[in-house]
Amino acid sequence: MARCCQLLTIFLLWALLMLSWCEASRNIVNGYDHSYLRFKSDSLIKRRDDTTRLKRFVRASLRSPTPTTVSVSDFGAKGDGNTDDTEAFVNAWKKACSSNGDVNLLVPKGNTYLLKSIRLTGPCKSILTVQIFGALSASQKRSDYKDFSKWLTFDGVNSLTVDGGTTGTVDGNGETWWQSSCKRNKAKTCTTKAPTALTFYNSKNLRVNNLRVKNAQQIQISIEKCSNVQVSNVVVTAPADSPNTDGIHITNTQNIQVSKSFIGTGDDCISIESGSQNVKINDITCGPGHGISIGSLGDDNSKAFVSGVTVDGAKLSGTDNGVRIKTYPGGSGTASNIIFQNIQMDNVKNPIIIDQHYCDKSKCTEEKSAVQVKNVVYRNISGTSASDIAIKFDCSSDYPCQGIVLDKVNIRGGKASCSNANVIDKGAVLPQCKIT
Ligand SMILES: *[C@@H]1O[C@H](CO)[C@@H](O)[C@H](O)[C@H]1NC(C)=O
Repeated sequence: MARCCQLLTIFLLWALLMLSWCEASRNIVNGYDHSYLRFKSDSLIKRRDDTTRLKRFVRASLRSPTPTTVSVSDFGAKGDGNTDDTEAFVNAWKKACSSNGDVNLLVPKGNTYLLKSIRLTGPCKSILTVQIFGALSASQKRSDYKDFSKWLTFDGVNSLTVDGGTTGTVDGNGETWWQSSCKRNKAKTCTTKAPTALTFYNSKNLRVNNLRVKNAQQIQISIEKCSNVQVSNVVVTAPADSPNTDGIHITNTQNIQVSKSFIGTGDDCISIESGSQNVKINDITCGPGHGISIGSLGDDNSKAFVSGVTVDGAKLSGTDNGVRIKTYPGGSGTASNIIFQNIQMDNVKNPIIIDQHYCDKSKCTEEKSAVQVKNVVYRNISGTSASDIAIKFDCSSDYPCQGIVLDKVNIRGGKASCSNANVIDKGAVLPQCKIT
């Protein structure tokens, strides 16, 4: 039956294609006959219409009219907050991933599902929307995590949508993990790992919308090795003193937009790491947290590349940093073509900072090499500094920062401290690196 439909579709497609070709060539002939340019362009428009109609038809015939819904409750998930629902989720995933057409994998609203670490892998046959309308709650037993590095992972799933429907919550229950961090408890060693709450790995065409993520064990949302990603309307929260709970962590990812989101956490609101390109951040509210960061780049003498980052529209309040670029001494590579604009900062400790001497390890040695920072524009940034340094460019003497532009910057309450930075002031700038 399915085979017969496919054949029919292919035949119809071919017939339509032939028809549109004939039509188009006849129009072109008409165009030549009368030597009217208008005719030629009319036929071009007509041809485009035909193709659009054809595309719509093919899409409609290949995809089912209404998506199939696979609910985790059909696979025995209890959602009472106490029963381990991991197996039910894995089985529901298997079903949803192997079905044809558009599939919604539903996590019903009003329930709380207790989960161990899970890796949900693709590729999937279906075009999947995971509807997290209820709450996912992380197990607090260490033995429920395979290597202590991830809680929920989507791996190798293309065209995936995760929709929280504004009620959906992903809760890492991080407290027990935070207590054993050396950043909280100085008596502990700094080698203790903690899981990332939600990881998207190796996916093309990913959307994450309307989701709440909170109290992750460590990083809250991590997007790794993905391309064509849209994250919007997410709310990410954890206490200011929760260690390493980066809000949205982006690494090795190309063409990503993060917009209309609120992030208040214990580490960077958004961190952009090596291998990321064409990153757009719009309409972000951040605080508490460590601000919006590019880096750390070049740790352990590594080569790092980040380019094409635009942060356009952000409000940061009470954060440790505003917009930051941080690189480790001893690294190499470049961080380039970066724009920070239309940003409001209130009571931020380091509103604008480039730190090429960053180090949060026990010891970092003086090194000659550094990740080159170049072409960074700060435009229309205003607000107040919570420390007496509002602008800090602490660049490497061997690889000075190049092409730094300050354009309409007005940060009150602090001065500028600039070393080894090639800075151009455009528009009104306060404070300035050079005292004129
Ligand atoms: C400057 O940035 C603020 C946000 O901080 C925005 O409201 C304003 O419209 C921007 N001004 C211009 C001229 O773009």
